[in-house]
Amino acid sequence: MSPSRTDSWNAAMGVSPGALDLTIPASAIGGTIPAALRGGRMFSNGPGWTRIGDRTAHPFDGHGYMRSFTLLPDGSCRLRAAFVQTPSYRVEREAGRLVHRGLATNASPYFWKNIPRTPARNVANTTVIRRGDRLLAGWEAGAPYALDPDTLETHGEEDFGGVIAGAATLAHMRRDATRGRLTLCSVGMGRDTTFTFRELDDADRVVTSRVVEVGGMVFTHDYGLAPSWYVLGGNPLRLKPLEMARALAGAGTMLHAISPDGARPGTLHLVPRSGDGPLRTVTLPEPVFIVHFGNAFEREGDLIVDICALDAFEFGEEFGYQGPDRPFDPALSEARGPQRLLRVTVPAGSDTATWERLSPHGVDFPRFHPDHEGVPTPRLFGATRRDTRFSDPFDSIIGVDLLDPEHPAALWTAGPDAFVGEPLFAPDPAHPEQGHVLTLVSDGLAHQTTLVVLDASALDAGPVARVPMPLLPIAFHGEWEAPT
Ligand SMILES: [Fe+2]
Repeated sequence: MSPSRTDSWNAAMGVSPGALDLTIPASAIGGTIPAALRGGRMFSNGPGWTRIGDRTAHPFDGHGYMRSFTLLPDGSCRLRAAFVQTPSYRVEREAGRLVHRGLATNASPYFWKNIPRTPARNVANTTVIRRGDRLLAGWEAGAPYALDPDTLETHGEEDFGGVIAGAATLAHMRRDATRGRLTLCSVGMGRDTTFTFRELDDADRVVTSRVVEVGGMVFTHDYGLAPSWYVLGGNPLRLKPLEMARALAGAGTMLHAISPDGARPGTLHLVPRSGDGPLRTVTLPEPVFIVHFGNAFEREGDLIVDICALDAFEFGEEFGYQGPDRPFDPALSEARGPQRLLRVTVPAGSDTATWERLSPHGVDFPRFHPDHEGVPTPRLFGATRRDTRFSDPFDSIIGVDLLDPEHPAALWTAGPDAFVGEPLFAPDPAHPEQGHVLTLVSDGLAHQTTLVVLDASALDAGPVARVPMPLLPIAFHGEWEAPT
């Protein structure tokens, strides 16, 4: 990792421009916004304030900062950005310092000051989905927050008409377009792990719900959604007793007190979406840790699931975080090796799965056609590195041909000191197998973020449009809202 690239990363991780409302005229945009995208909007969520007072919060604990990019009919782009007005944001903005403990950040360097503080505050910084007349900002261990999709004004916690009142949901929610459902997953962690899945129709009525328990502590950030199954990564965790004692005493954090248990086999847990059939646990060829899922579907009784799998890692160093008093070191992510994009096949009735690697590149943030959840989809897009030894921080966008894995993947790489985020696929309404890929490119040295639009069928050809704007913080997840 070159010094300039490290500086660029720190600039992009630490920048905090606050509320924005500005228009980038068509004359300032490189290339042309495709007509098929005009009238649509891209949303993006992520931490927007991590240097809080004199301490740097882990990005997981940075306050949620929602961005919307409206592609206007005249070829211009309107950027709006606003913090999600959670209680912890308001308190810490007022105080100008960290007040509450986070998942991986303590508010104070003095352990006795951390003991009475709330264990982990909801910063609504991880995902974003459009739902009815609202925009939902998801977080890992609490309820999503509802925002106005136009003004980004925060309405408050979303409980889906009381469905999840008092319960947390995973930040990742999935849409089954075929059945018109939104699926939610709540995770209860203890000696064993309890999963509660709920499927909601468009009126927030619970169509189905299912509760299952898995033995031991399981890490879950995302899940796959097939027509018959919810698919969970086995992801066994072990407690680090000393770190847990330090966390309880206010000197450590909960994220640093757990660790992937790489000594146990890799597994998937398959939970039936309907009926009361038993959970199936299937063994994978190697121990792996699964953070994000791609698509999942069924073919003649076999289950096919695309996963992004890490061989090993330690919690707490994500994004190169080194603690509250040190800069980010993006080389930390390189030390753990690339995430493999794997297509897992579970034969009907079998408790053993096979897999094939879909690309030699390390891939994360897998996205595909938003209406293809649970059905075969032709292409997967992901964030990747041109150098196959690494994954994040990402410098490239990859398009993988899922119908012909032998077909070389398409790749587009941003500039030498630039970082790419999650790629969103915007299908062409008239030709849904075609479309565009949108992503945010951050160049901390140039103090610029660029919304890049690529032709999904010709990533290698480079952007068809580049929308320049002030440097925005590195984001996590986003969503494309098609023109109506
Ligand atoms: Fe995620």
